[in-house]
Amino acid sequence: MKIARTLTELQAATRTLGETAFVPTMGALHSGHLSLLAAAKADGRPVVASIFVNPTQFGPNEDFNRYPRDEAGDLAQLEASGCDLVWLPDVTTMYPAQAATSISVAGPALRWEGAARPTHFGGVATVVAKLFGQVRPAAAYFGEKDWQQVQVISRMVADLLLPVQIVPVPIARDVDGLALSSRNRFLLPPERAGAPALFAALTKAATQIVAGQQVAAALHDARATLTTAGMVPDYVALVHAQSLEPLDALEHPARIIAAAKLGTVRLLDNVPVA
Ligand code: PAJ
Repeated sequence: MKIARTLTELQAATRTLGETAFVPTMGALHSGHLSLLAAAKADGRPVVASIFVNPTQFGPNEDFNRYPRDEAGDLAQLEASGCDLVWLPDVTTMYPAQAATSISVAGPALRWEGAARPTHFGGVATVVAKLFGQVRPAAAYFGEKDWQQVQVISRMVADLLLPVQIVPVPIARDVDGLALSSRNRFLLPPERAGAPALFAALTKAATQIVAGQQVAAALHDARATLTTAGMVPDYVALVHAQSLEPLDALEHPARIIAAAKLGTVRLLDNVPVA
C-alpha cells in the first residue's frame, strides 16, 4: 500500500494506477468504512482511500478538536483491507492561504442536517470536489449512513458534470442494530445500551407507514419512543429519498431519516420505506 502526503506524491502514485475507485474518509476507521473499502475493492479497480478531518464541515461549536484521530490504526486497517493508495493531505494542501472558491449547495442540502448545521454541507461539497480533482477517480463510494450527504454529493456531481460515478453503500450496523459511527465511542455504557432504540423506532415506523398507517402518527410514535429511550430527537421525517423534501403521505422513493442527541453524541440513522 502506497502512502501519499503531498500532491506530488499523489500524482506520481495515481499515474501508475489508471482508473481508480475512491473512498474518502475522515479516519477513525471502523467496520462501516471498511464496508466501503470492500465495495470499492469489488469494483475491480485499484482502491484509493483518503483521510482528512475537514475543518470546513464542522461548525464553530462542533467537535472538530475532539474528532477521533488514529493514523497508525487507520493505516493498518486500510492495508488489511487491500487498499492500494492512501491520500493524507494536510490542511494547507486542501485550503491554501490564497483559496477563494468554495461550493455553495442548496436543494437536498437545505433541510435536516443542513438546517441543524448550516455550513456543514458546503464544507463537505467543497472538500469532496477538491478530493475528486486531486484523485480523479472513476468511481467514489459513500455510505448510506449519511443519506443526505450522498444526495448532496450526487446532486453536486450532476450539476457540475464531474466525471465520477457515485456509488452508495448500505449502512453497516452493530449486531444490535446501531449504525456504526466514529462518534459512538463517546456514548457512556448506559447510553450505548439504549442507542439501538433509534434504528428500532425507524424500522417500526417504516413498517407502519407501508402498512397504511398515517405518516404523522407513525413519526409521532417514533419520536415518543426516542424520548422514552433518553434521546432528544432533532428530526424524524419521511422524505423523498433524493430531494429530501418532506412527504405527508407515502410516495416512492421514500426514506425515513432521523437525528437524535444521546448524551453528547448526535446519532444519525435512516431506513428505506419500501
Ligand atoms: P466519515 O464520517 O469518515 O465517513 C466516511 C464514509 O464512511 C462516508 O461515506 C460515510 O457515510 C461512511 N460511513 C460511516 N459510517 C458508516 C456505516 N455505519 N455504514 C456505511 N458507511 C458508513 O463522511 C465523511 O467522513 C466526510 O463527510 C467526507 C465525505 C469524508 C468529507 O469530508
